[in-house]
Amino acid sequence: MATSTTFTLFLSLTFSLFILTTASSEADILLTFKASIEDPTNSLSNWSNSTATNLCNWTGVTCTASLSLSIASLNLQSLNLSGEISSSICILPNLTRLNLADNLFNQPIPLHLSECSLLETLNLSNNLIWGTIPEQISQFGALTVLDLSRNRVEGKIPESIGALKKLQVLNLGSNLLSGSVPLVFGNFTKLVVLDLSQNPFLVSEVPTDFGKLDNLEKLLLQSSGFYGSIPESFVGLLGLTTLDLSQNNLTGEVPQKLGFSLSKLVSFDVSQNKLYGFFPNGICDAKGIINLSLHTNFFNGSVPNSSINQCLNLERFQVQNNVFSGDFPNGLWSLPKIKLIRAENNVFSGEIPDSISMAAQLEQVQIDNNSFAGEIPQGLGMVKSLYRFSASLNGFYGEIPPNFCDSPVMSIINLSHNSLSGKIPELRKCGKLVSLALASNSLFGEIPPSLSELPVLTYLDLSDNNLTGSIPLELQNLKLALFNVSFNRLSGQVPFSLISGLPASFLQGNPDLCGPGLPNSCSDHNPGHKTDNVSKLACALVSVAIAVGILIIVAGFYLIRSSNRKSEMGIWRSVFFYPLRVTEHDLIMAMDEKSASGSGVFGRVHVVALPSGELVAVKKIINFGSQSSKALKAEVKTLAKIRHKNIIKILGFCHSEDSILLIYEYLQKGSLEDLICRLEDFRLPWSARLRIAIGVAQGLAYLHKDYVPHTVHRNVKSTNILLDADFEPKLTDFALDRIVGEAAFQSSLASESALSCYIAPEYGYCKKATEQIDTYSFGVVLLELLTGRPAEKTESGEDSLDVVKWVRRKINISNGAFQVLDSKISNSSQQEMLAALDIALRCTSVMPEKRPPMPEVVRALQSLHSRTYLSNAEFSASEEV
Ligand SMILES: *[C@@H]1O[C@H](CO)[C@@H](O)[C@H](O)[C@H]1NC(C)=O
Ligand SMILES: *[C@@H]1O[C@H](CO)[C@@H](O)[C@H](O)[C@H]1NC(C)=O
Ligand SMILES: *[C@@H]1O[C@H](CO)[C@@H](O)[C@H](O)[C@H]1NC(C)=O
Ligand SMILES: *[C@@H]1O[C@H](CO)[C@@H](O)[C@H](O)[C@H]1NC(C)=O
Ligand SMILES: *[C@@H]1O[C@H](CO)[C@@H](O)[C@H](O)[C@H]1NC(C)=O
Ligand SMILES: *[C@@H]1O[C@H](CO)[C@@H](O)[C@H](O)[C@H]1NC(C)=O
Ligand SMILES: *[C@@H]1O[C@H](CO)[C@@H](O)[C@H](O)[C@H]1NC(C)=O
Ligand SMILES: *[C@@H]1O[C@H](CO)[C@@H](O)[C@H](O)[C@H]1NC(C)=O
Ligand SMILES: *[C@@H]1O[C@H](CO)[C@@H](O)[C@H](O)[C@H]1NC(C)=O
Ligand SMILES: *[C@@H]1O[C@H](CO)[C@@H](O)[C@H](O)[C@H]1NC(C)=O
Repeated sequence: MATSTTFTLFLSLTFSLFILTTASSEADILLTFKASIEDPTNSLSNWSNSTATNLCNWTGVTCTASLSLSIASLNLQSLNLSGEISSSICILPNLTRLNLADNLFNQPIPLHLSECSLLETLNLSNNLIWGTIPEQISQFGALTVLDLSRNRVEGKIPESIGALKKLQVLNLGSNLLSGSVPLVFGNFTKLVVLDLSQNPFLVSEVPTDFGKLDNLEKLLLQSSGFYGSIPESFVGLLGLTTLDLSQNNLTGEVPQKLGFSLSKLVSFDVSQNKLYGFFPNGICDAKGIINLSLHTNFFNGSVPNSSINQCLNLERFQVQNNVFSGDFPNGLWSLPKIKLIRAENNVFSGEIPDSISMAAQLEQVQIDNNSFAGEIPQGLGMVKSLYRFSASLNGFYGEIPPNFCDSPVMSIINLSHNSLSGKIPELRKCGKLVSLALASNSLFGEIPPSLSELPVLTYLDLSDNNLTGSIPLELQNLKLALFNVSFNRLSGQVPFSLISGLPASFLQGNPDLCGPGLPNSCSDHNPGHKTDNVSKLACALVSVAIAVGILIIVAGFYLIRSSNRKSEMGIWRSVFFYPLRVTEHDLIMAMDEKSASGSGVFGRVHVVALPSGELVAVKKIINFGSQSSKALKAEVKTLAKIRHKNIIKILGFCHSEDSILLIYEYLQKGSLEDLICRLEDFRLPWSARLRIAIGVAQGLAYLHKDYVPHTVHRNVKSTNILLDADFEPKLTDFALDRIVGEAAFQSSLASESALSCYIAPEYGYCKKATEQIDTYSFGVVLLELLTGRPAEKTESGEDSLDVVKWVRRKINISNGAFQVLDSKISNSSQQEMLAALDIALRCTSVMPEKRPPMPEVVRALQSLHSRTYLSNAEFSASEEV
């Protein structure tokens, strides 16, 4: 059967070739090809016989250069095409390149394209190609480039692939291939790029014959299931520029002679395996290589010229998360092009040489958790491109050189858990420093007040040293998120804002420190009055600032109103996702002062009764005009498609040139904030509070992980959590950045972020929308539920603290988690509440990477819920009220 079909096809092809030879017939061939393709965005609209004389400038078509124009290449990448890839294309006599990458073709590998006799390049990357690689793949003998990456190709790689001897590029990365790699790759003598990465089911040893590929420049095998050792034969890969074997299951040692093949290497990555042993002595070291060359006969005595220092091109060296030991290759530290050195979590020993100053491109060093020793060299401070130096958990000793933070781009330094001594040097030049960790060393002397001159310093950990003197008052000027000086020998009064004004202060273990809330409150003759005056002055200044702020907001409000009046007569367009029987005019008429039920930075919310009697919530947002009306519509539509029981439905929206009205479903019970603030005593039993927390967490987990496109809420707070009649929470005001545009979103948020405790500390210097920012805000909401305190209080005194500071202060200083729990809830829920408090504290961790992902939060809270539910079955407030 199969042969007869092929035969018929062959006949018909020959026949067609016979009759179709002119340029105009090439147009017909393309039109036939187009006929089987679905083209929803009409990208191929100019493929039509009305423009057939211009065949060579049809979308994606490139012709041969000679006089007799003929199609040489088709590039139809990224056009959202689907349908069938028809072999009719093979009738084009001169077609050598076909690129259909980044489309939606959903079919097996189109074997019939092997009929294209001159085809050299076939790119089907990033489609929905499925099925196995058939034996008949050998029919593509003419191909030099085959890219099937990022599809769903499964099964074993057949041996017959070895027939594609002309291949220069073979990319099978990001598929579902399985089994082991057949031993035919030695046949690909022309291969330059080989990519088998990200095939998790490809459980195989690395074939030895990869080492025969003399021309190979890129070998990418990362994130698959390769096990066993790195073949000794790799020393023959003389042309290699990129070697990525990371995230496999490789073990054994790195071949001792591998150094020889490194002369062109730019990137070397064997991280996250189980490799052990030590690196070849003298690797990347001019002296070493000459020595090594005398002791090897691998090249029959002939030493390649470039081997004087064979690593001269190396930029990235990544060996982290293995079990390497022995001396770290010393020559690496001074390579002229090296940018990245990652070796953390091994057992390397050795020192960092002063010649590191020669590594003029070095940006990032991470060697934490090894056995390095020696002093931090002066040379380090001379590397002006360094932005991260992380060497915690090693045996570095001696003093920190005064210039060690001279790089103008330095932003992260971690030297914790070493044996450094001496004083902390004055750090004046590193204006970009964000994080400084010097914990657990033997540093002494005072905390240099000049630290307060580093404008973006946010994390400062000096704990567990031998520091003396008082805490410099100037540190209050910094926007610190973490300030840890615990277990030193500091004394004197703690600057007030460092006790009360920070998300996380760690002061314990300094018996001579004094201040409010500390075991030792300062005695009279301390210069306490002065500080009191300072803080009074600060209070006064803050009030003035707030008053001015309010004035500005009020003024802004009038401006907005007056501009709105104008627009009310302008042109409105509406899109309803639900059958709402209402006109824009009705909506605008109904939105007066009386209907305004809440406000927010982005605009006010009005409750509007539709003519049908139904109530809807309408949020009016300024249209900053940063998006075209089409883009705006697309964004709101995307958001309106979100369907989750804990996310409010968008029913529709109207927009004019200067306003956007978002129409949401209306919920009777109002917001969580109303519940906490308005009821003089917030009396909801723990089980109901836990249900609210779980609902909110589920809504966020859905936005972050399940909804496509993944979405970040960016404005989680109790005013944006609405409650239905059963106290089931629904998130509102999500992803307004998509609607108003990033710039407008940031500036609107900035007007309140300085004051809001819902906003994660890292937002101060990094305005990126991350899931961790939502997690932080969620943690604050959970703290509100646990403590019964509104997040932000306006009263003065201790009560003026926001809930995060208040909780941290209680926990840090008096060490009593019980005290923060809402006393209106009965003791029987205390165990669950303490567990929930632990979750809230993790969510509000100052380090974004320490916050758990939302699905994990959901699971943790749900496990509490089942416990609560068992112990406290009825959903009634009677017990607590
Ligand atoms: C366009 O091409 C189709 C088939 O490819 C043909 O039937 C039709 O007559 C052509 N139209 C013109 C205007 O040439
Ligand atoms: C098509 O290409 C020719 C040259 O091959 C050029 O002169 C002509 O302007 C192009 N036409 C269009 C519509 O781009
Ligand atoms: C077809 O569209 C492409 C891209 O829009 C354009 O570059 C080309 O000139 C068009 N060709 C003709 C014949 O109109
Ligand atoms: C393809 O579809 C995606 C999603 O539907 C869309 O974002 C993109 O703009 C489309 N591309 C083209 C070229 O139309
Ligand atoms: C295109 O192919 C035809 C038929 O094989 C051949 O005669 C012609 O020379 C080729 N043209 C070019 C420019 O390669
Ligand atoms: C195939 O197309 C994709 C998408 O443009 C591109 O990234 C890739 O480099 C191409 N493959 C080859 C081998 O050129
Ligand atoms: C590989 O090449 C050898 C010799 O060149 C040949 O005998 C063998 O059949 C090829 N392997 C495959 C699978 O085509
Ligand atoms: C790694 O290899 C070991 C045995 O060598 C095996 O037990 C383990 O399952 C493998 N792990 C992975 C992730 O493949
Ligand atoms: C060269 O190799 C010899 C023998 O392996 C060794 O003793 C010597 O220390 C090496 N010299 C250098 C400079 O590495
Ligand atoms: C701290 O300093 C004191 C006095 O100089 C000294 O006795 C002690 O050993 C030091 N502790 C550490 C951990 O360096």
